[in-house]
Amino acid sequence: MNFEYTEEHLAVRDAAREFAQTELLPGVIERDTHATFPHAQIKEMGALGFMGMMVDPKYNGGGMDTISYVLAMEEISKIDASASVAMSVNNSLVCWGLEKYGNEEQKEKYLKRLAKGEIIGAFCLSEPEAGSDATSQKTTAERNGDHYLLNGTKNWITNGNTASVYIIIAQTDPLKGHKGISAFIVEKDWEGFVVGKKEDKLGIRGSDTHSLMFTDVKIPVENRIGEEGFGFRLAMETLNGGRLGIAAQALGIAAGAYELALAYSKERKTFGKPICQHQAIQFKLADMATEIEAARLLVLKAAWLKDQGKEFSQASAMAKLYASKVAMDVTIEAIQVHGGYGYVKEYHVERLMRDAKITQIYEGTSEIQKIVISRGILS
Ligand code: CAA
Ligand code: FAD
Repeated sequence: MNFEYTEEHLAVRDAAREFAQTELLPGVIERDTHATFPHAQIKEMGALGFMGMMVDPKYNGGGMDTISYVLAMEEISKIDASASVAMSVNNSLVCWGLEKYGNEEQKEKYLKRLAKGEIIGAFCLSEPEAGSDATSQKTTAERNGDHYLLNGTKNWITNGNTASVYIIIAQTDPLKGHKGISAFIVEKDWEGFVVGKKEDKLGIRGSDTHSLMFTDVKIPVENRIGEEGFGFRLAMETLNGGRLGIAAQALGIAAGAYELALAYSKERKTFGKPICQHQAIQFKLADMATEIEAARLLVLKAAWLKDQGKEFSQASAMAKLYASKVAMDVTIEAIQVHGGYGYVKEYHVERLMRDAKITQIYEGTSEIQKIVISRGILS
């Protein structure tokens, strides 16, 4: 067993930390207030190689391992979880599936640009009546000669308006249930594709979340990923990696709040001494540090399993379940350490608490992670 990072891991972590401090921190409160997508920053993240970190360099990716990816996700998420969810979706939910299951033409046409961050992708599984119950897909893609006709609605789509390329999961044979679900690459400017309203959210307010409507959108057959009926498996396998990205996001949110609380506790004085000298505050810091370390170990273990080519879906679900709980617990305590100052925007911790909540909901709620974990235990 080896708990050491490699030099490459440390270099990636430090580069992400530096970028987050210099490019994401300025303006993060404003972007949250006005629900502004970090366009310029995401472009820069593409140029630095953060949007296709694990993709093979021959498709313009960074060729890095999953440990590097989760380290970068943690650092970006400490400062701006809206930027990190755009990064997570592009890396884990879009590039991964295209690289693993796309054909050469699809990789040439789409992956090469996505991996460089030249264009941004979105992953569309959820529907108004198919969130946790993801097999209940109502969106249909009906084969019509050399193309499919796509009809239906997707909702809650991250990068919904910023993306140009969408991985869309749709029913091609409703009689076959989840074995009749397929996956497609769809471009935004195709006729019949409408981007719906932007959601006004509690947290990750800089992320653009939209519903999407499709009316007879013509998808060429060559834009199907894999065989007909392969779409649900592709979505589930994709989410195994995606959940790890969100676990790292939750870890970063918790670690960011803890670092702020620790620094503040050394500065703020009450009753003639810094508050970190009161045992009640020391115990809060001890609990936060311990929970964060446990979450980090779960995230790294799942990343390591994935890098070794071993089964990691359980480990990924455990990492997301635990890290997202830690993110909620730690951000609430970080506000408490800040007293009244924690309740206002200037001190960042209230935003981190609002951002933390989504990590218990998207890419499978905490209840769904428990289903995945318990099925694994009992199988
Ligand atoms: N990995 C691989 N395959 C999996 C899997 C996993 N983690 N989970 C399920 N499957 C496979 C099963 O093996 C089964 O395949 P076979 O029939 O070939 O054996 C198939 O999927 C159907 O599984 P179940 O019979 O278990 O189906 P179910 O309906 O009982 O439950 C579920 C499945 C696990 C609850 C699934 O519906 C689920 O994961 N729901 C949550 C959906 C989700 O996470 N959505 C996230 C949307 S993306 C997003 O949120 C992005 C973002 O915010 C940024
Ligand atoms: P429901 O499935 O209706 O669940 C409601 C409640 O019931 C939850 O607490 C749930 O845990 C619980 N529940 C449901 N079934 C069970 C059960 N069997 N046992 C126990 N409890 C259960 N989706 C995408 O496809 N792409 C995206 O990019 C994307 N981005 C998102 C961004 C944001 C900001 C949000 C809010 C959501 C996003 N989603 C995305 C959708 C997200 O994955 C779903 O919201 C999530 O999977 C839950 O589905 P739901 O909202 O329909 O809740």
